[in-house]
Amino acid sequence: MARVAVVTGGTRGIGEAISLALKDAGITVAANYAGNDEKAAAFTERTGIKAYKWDVGDFDACAAGVQQVEAELGPVDIVVNNAGITRDGTILKMTRDMWEDVIRINLGGCFNMAHAVFPGMRTRKWGRIVNIGSINGQAGQYGQVNYAAAKSGIHGFTKALAQEGARFGVTVNAIAPGYIDTDMVAAVPADVLEKIVAKIPVGRLGQAHEIARAVAFLCAEEGGFVTGSTLSINGGQHMY
Ligand SMILES: NC(=O)c1ccc[n+]([C@@H]2O[C@H](COP(=O)([O-])OP(=O)(O)OC[C@H]3O[C@@H](n4cnc5c(N)ncnc54)[C@H](OP(=O)(O)O)[C@@H]3O)[C@@H](O)[C@H]2O)c1
Repeated sequence: MARVAVVTGGTRGIGEAISLALKDAGITVAANYAGNDEKAAAFTERTGIKAYKWDVGDFDACAAGVQQVEAELGPVDIVVNNAGITRDGTILKMTRDMWEDVIRINLGGCFNMAHAVFPGMRTRKWGRIVNIGSINGQAGQYGQVNYAAAKSGIHGFTKALAQEGARFGVTVNAIAPGYIDTDMVAAVPADVLEKIVAKIPVGRLGQAHEIARAVAFLCAEEGGFVTGSTLSINGGQHMY
């Protein structure tokens, strides 16, 4: 039986590339998304991968979503916690809601999803959890105390959960992408983006498939000895 994976935020950007890379590796993929039905329908049409709508920041919705995927596709062996948002602003301008939303979705989503799948993985003695962090969680970023805190939290979450999963064949790793060419980065003003690219030693933005390839490796059978690690994929921008 093929392994089953849930990729959160799996219908667009980096998540779409991850969904495709796992499918190419022979894994049955369920791609979660939040609300962009049009993009999700186009994704399913293009890839044949089923899309499931729920908010990863909602604990009960994650439990119900995983239950639905398991009823339709089988036990979940792999979770890629990729869903994420930005609500940027300096601390002077950041509202409590901007803080809460980013922590609830980006960091809370990892807890909610891991909580839903971990017991089954532990019982079956095999599991792969990959959390998508960020260079800005490692280095910080002006105007992103919420995002940097959430992503930095993901890196700590990864190391702690890896210790709980290790004896049970459940690996937990993180990837810290640098600037990748997706809708999220397209939202950055052009003059700011130009300055960002100028600081990337390889001289360009990363591509979503360059993150996806690493996720596929971490999710493979041969990835079993890699756990608690954070892989930086950032064109040499931050050597951590
Ligand atoms: N792009 C970069 O340069 C970069 C760099 C470092 C880290 N990252 C991280 O990589 C991940 C993917 O980024 P991206 O650039 O591919 O983002 P993106 O293009 O904005 O796509 C975000 C995806 O997450 C989903 N999503 C958002 N909120 C959600 C929620 N509450 N519940 C479920 N799904 C939700 C979206 O669903 P809808 O389509 O329904 O909105 C979409 O599928 C994020 O965690 C991001 O922080 C990105």
